[in-house]
Amino acid sequence: MSDGPAPTAEPLGLVVLVSGSGSNLQALIEAAAEPAAPFRVLAVGADRDGTGGAERAERAGIPTFVVRVPDYMTRADWDLDLERLVAEHEPDLVVSAGFMKVLGPAVLGAHRVVNTHPALLPSFPGAHGVHDAMAHGVKVTGCTCHWVDAGVDTGPIIEQRAVRVEPDDTVESLHERIKVAEREMLVDVVRGLAADRSWR
Ligand code: GRF
Repeated sequence: MSDGPAPTAEPLGLVVLVSGSGSNLQALIEAAAEPAAPFRVLAVGADRDGTGGAERAERAGIPTFVVRVPDYMTRADWDLDLERLVAEHEPDLVVSAGFMKVLGPAVLGAHRVVNTHPALLPSFPGAHGVHDAMAHGVKVTGCTCHWVDAGVDTGPIIEQRAVRVEPDDTVESLHERIKVAEREMLVDVVRGLAADRSWR
């Protein structure tokens, strides 16, 4: 009896969280549209109205939801409702792709979450990583994909890519170059996590 081809695993189901333009999300959407892609984007959540990320999702026919902190009495209530909205889509993995909120125990207790950050962690964590790296005068910076824990950009590192700082860079020009590397890195990481699911 021949062994035959190995059974194909179900695509890894993602919920992607965004706050901004959603170019990292777009890279995931495009990679997920390739034939035999090992993952798919089940839904996109945003922490504010009118994000470019939600627009990109809608254009791709992907369900979206918005969970705004100011709509809740407490941050804990926000965290619980975010978890509920994520769980409705039964994802295998949550991807924080430019989501500018620290996730709480409800989400982190129920889901594996990866984040992408525009600096070489553990240097320059937080919301201003590109600015802080430039202000420090580094000559090489880059991006990091890591598992999310309760801290701010502190979880175990999965992958990093380096980007040189050019003498005439502004924070904006440097961030745009970092984002080119970041999008490739994120797609590679999610492909890797879909191929080897021992982390589940
Ligand atoms: C990325 O550089 C992300 O790491 C940072 O914000 C940027 C989001 O870009 N936190 P986009 O919304 O995916 O275009």
